[in-house]
Amino acid sequence: MAEIKLPKHVAIIMDGNGTWAKKRGLPRTLGHKKGSETLVEVAKMCSRRGIKYLTVYAFSTENWSRPKEEVDYLMGLPQAMLSRYEDDLMRDNIKLKFIGFREKLGKNITSIIDRVEEKTKNNDGMVLLVAFNYGARDEILEAAKSIASDVKNNKLEIDDITKEYFSSKLFTSGVPDVDLLIRTSNQIRISNFLLWQISYSELYFTNTLWPDFSEKDLDEALFAYNNRDRRYGGIKK
Ligand code: IPE
Ligand code: IPE
Ligand code: MG
Repeated sequence: MAEIKLPKHVAIIMDGNGTWAKKRGLPRTLGHKKGSETLVEVAKMCSRRGIKYLTVYAFSTENWSRPKEEVDYLMGLPQAMLSRYEDDLMRDNIKLKFIGFREKLGKNITSIIDRVEEKTKNNDGMVLLVAFNYGARDEILEAAKSIASDVKNNKLEIDDITKEYFSSKLFTSGVPDVDLLIRTSNQIRISNFLLWQISYSELYFTNTLWPDFSEKDLDEALFAYNNRDRRYGGIKK
């Protein structure tokens, strides 16, 4: 039997919560509630399958433009989810990390994030990265500014700015690049997610709405990945 290629790092743009709710005549917030339950299940599935890193897009820097009621609901989710599931993270040996801009989030949210990150930091199973108030262009800009300032203050030589060094200045420092990027809900775009880290990722788009994303959907994506031929500019082996 051919060897099974499992992606080391899977990233998911969890899209379609609003559409899922609308189809049922429900408020969008209930779509986010169902979507957050899907995330718990999918994280467990990925961890059971031996995936080492799972990064999920939960709130983008652009999502602030949504109605206040929806933004407020989404801002309440980290606290609601973490207080409910922190024991599960420990039991499943999952290390949690939030990536994104924390300044705008407020003390209530950042203190619970800090606490659960600290509590799970020695777990050595899957790493779950939650992109919350995340935007890739700003992430890259901040890295560039920090490097420019180190050069200006003579702490860094221009020739030391390698791809590896640049990567280490991103939120995903120490995490390998994304192997497989999944987007649900039939939207074929990246929406400012992990632009640097997906440079050579395999892309997978599905019509399934995020709240409906099941074990079968995950396995279809992993199966598709397994059949891809990753060439990195070379030729087929
Ligand atoms: C994704 O679902 C969740 C977030 C962006 C927070 P959407 O809320 O974007 O759902 P659609 O795209 O409107 O269906
Ligand atoms: C991307 O989805 C952000 C998240 C899934 C958190 P959006 O629904 O915000 O993206 P656009 O607006 O359709 O590009
Ligand atoms: Mg959307």
